[in-house]
Amino acid sequence: MKYDITVIGSGPGGYVAAIRAAQLGFKVAIIEKYDTLGGTCLNVGCIPSKALLDSSEHYHNAKEKFTEHGIDLENLSVNMSQMIKRKGEVVSQTCKGINFLMDKNKIDVHHGHGSFIDKNTIKITDKEGKHKEIQTAKTIIATGSKPIVPAAFNYDKKRVITSTEALNIDKLPKKMVIIGAGVIGLELGSVFARLGTSVEVVEYMDRIIAGMDKDCSKELMRSLKKLGIKFHLKHEVTTVKATSKTVTVNYKKRDSEDEQSIKADYCLVAIGRKAYTDGLGLDNVGIATDKRGKIEVDEHLQTNVEGIYAIGDVTHGAMLAHKAEEEGVFVAEYMAGQKPHIDYNLIPGVVYTWPEVASVGKTEEQLKDSGITYKSGRFPFKALGRARASMDTEGMVKILTDANTDEVLGVHIVGARAADMIAEAVVAMEYRASAEDISRMSHAHPTYTEAIKEAALAATGNRPLHI
Ligand code: FAD
Ligand code: NAI
Repeated sequence: MKYDITVIGSGPGGYVAAIRAAQLGFKVAIIEKYDTLGGTCLNVGCIPSKALLDSSEHYHNAKEKFTEHGIDLENLSVNMSQMIKRKGEVVSQTCKGINFLMDKNKIDVHHGHGSFIDKNTIKITDKEGKHKEIQTAKTIIATGSKPIVPAAFNYDKKRVITSTEALNIDKLPKKMVIIGAGVIGLELGSVFARLGTSVEVVEYMDRIIAGMDKDCSKELMRSLKKLGIKFHLKHEVTTVKATSKTVTVNYKKRDSEDEQSIKADYCLVAIGRKAYTDGLGLDNVGIATDKRGKIEVDEHLQTNVEGIYAIGDVTHGAMLAHKAEEEGVFVAEYMAGQKPHIDYNLIPGVVYTWPEVASVGKTEEQLKDSGITYKSGRFPFKALGRARASMDTEGMVKILTDANTDEVLGVHIVGARAADMIAEAVVAMEYRASAEDISRMSHAHPTYTEAIKEAALAATGNRPLHI
């Protein structure tokens, strides 16, 4: 079999690259080592985590908010195995959708582990250990990432777990320790805390979601503490030890040697992910990686070997599904001789806690560090009629602008529906809008998006209307 383009890995980077390449007229193959397509995102990432976030949020609202809305419920309880079953169905439907897209675009799907024999030959080894070889003119590596788990944490997949196992817990734990207050720790921590698990988070940095704007960290921390999550900031975990039924997490202050410990049912390790290139045969073709194992690429996402490209989590940049997708489209179009472009500054980041957090552009800390003179406008959700009507009054919108030109440089939202609202900020920044531009656009009333207009009014001339 001979292909114009072979994609290794069927996550959002790989399957989108394959579709775009097929649309552009290439003969395309995709190789996936698992039985289902969709990669981390569809199988054990974005989709299942959001399914459980939504289910647990329904329960939490029913328990904490319905009475005030005038809805009385009796005998409310969590049916964890049904919740996990529904999540499984959502995943399976979504993954099947990718099979349909592959068929529709006449992309050949090969299940098995792909590895380079040479630049134009890829060996595919299936589950039974049978091999076949395909020939390809060009290749896109989209093999994604895997969780980082230090040896001292004694990862056993039973008591010491990563997100992959956490998404399948079908009996509600009494207590869970989470290592890392990043995106995974806080999203999955929210799921279990909402359902009634006592959750403690140990985080090395002095704030949660440390990569995002400081004000977002503060706002979210306040809400998550209210939910009952306990935080140990500026602490690091030294060792984790499990028995068949419990786990002991030993941790200490960053600048001290005094160790403390917490006993729990589970320890969820969520301290980041690393590029996954195991058994890919990179050495057979001489593809270079950096010291953290990420595949090195140039500005066209081409590796040091001509005709072999790398996209998504396996290479540099944010580990996000939509970043991987943009790169998939980019590479396919570049191979077709087009001149695509990605503005990495405009890739939004979202944390699907409640309230949600969503950001695009520069944080206030980044603007300070780079010496740019900026203005900041804020508007709290509690001043919005829409937020009061739905009882979702936590959070704020913050808009950062260039002090000289009024151009929007960053938008940071904590609040209900922030994940969807951030799209307005991305559009505005794509077209290099000023805060004045946003403030003169009509925003439907009553909606959460009015907070964006009000924050823009605050940034452009300190003239918000409703505060
Ligand atoms: P992946 O999705 O990891 O896919 C890589 C695929 O390659 C896998 O299917 C793997 O089996 C296959 N593969 C690897 N090596 C080989 C080989 N040699 N041969 C054949 N196949 C191979 N991002 C968001 O934007 N939004 C979210 O809400 C979100 N939630 C997440 C929640 C969790 C719990 C996790 C873990 C991640 C989440 N992410 C989220 C991150 C997102 O899943 C990743 O950024 C995204 O999946 C990366 O896509 P990718 O195509 O680069 O790789
Ligand atoms: P992360 O990088 O977001 O957070 C890891 C946290 O762990 C950091 O705050 C770090 O300081 C802390 N940490 C590291 N070592 C530690 C130690 N020994 N003790 C205590 N704390 C320690 O990584 P996370 O949450 O594992 O997520 C991995 C990737 O998955 C992220 O890059 C993210 O982009 C992606 N993802 C995206 C989601 C989204 O877009 N909503 C949801 C879930 C994951």
